[in-house]
Amino acid sequence: MIPYTLLEFDTLNSTSDFLKENHSYFPHMTMIRTNYQTKGRGQFDRLWLSNKNENIMFSILLKDVDINRVGNVKLWILESIITFINLYQINCYFKEPNDIYVDDKKICGILIETQTLETIYDYVVVGIGLNINQESFDGLPATSFRTILKTKQDIKKLFSKLVNILIKDYEKYQI
Ligand code: BTN
Repeated sequence: MIPYTLLEFDTLNSTSDFLKENHSYFPHMTMIRTNYQTKGRGQFDRLWLSNKNENIMFSILLKDVDINRVGNVKLWILESIITFINLYQINCYFKEPNDIYVDDKKICGILIETQTLETIYDYVVVGIGLNINQESFDGLPATSFRTILKTKQDIKKLFSKLVNILIKDYEKYQI
């Protein structure tokens, strides 16, 4: 299986911004997780607000990804997250452009950002926000593991399971 680097922080501005700013210092398949983001970003330049210690927020750095294979990054991430969510008997589905929903509520948002260098991507940063223990979302149509399963979840255990699935599934996609 592909080796990976994992770093965890209590607070960051944004795990994706941290990896974009520091991509040259880290190897392919570096993952950065944080308990809290002060400037979490979503798709379309929206803010990504998430309570401290309540959700899984992380980003993955992929280096030198072939331009023709970047679509596989999305397929890999989606398959792994959907497999992970299904493990807990939660039925979910993909919703364009990059979301995972349960019924009519969002449980996970994915942000894929790239920097191109001629025929290869210099790097790809995939940011993932997965709602775990947060129960109120300011009226937004969102849900979480805790809301659905009615029990508080162990974020670290869940994250470690998700990382194992991502690493195992990665082999299937030629990225
Ligand atoms: C969306 O649905 O709009 C995408 C949300 C992506 C949020 C994650 S949380 C970890 C990473 N860091 C960020 O600033 N954003 C992504």
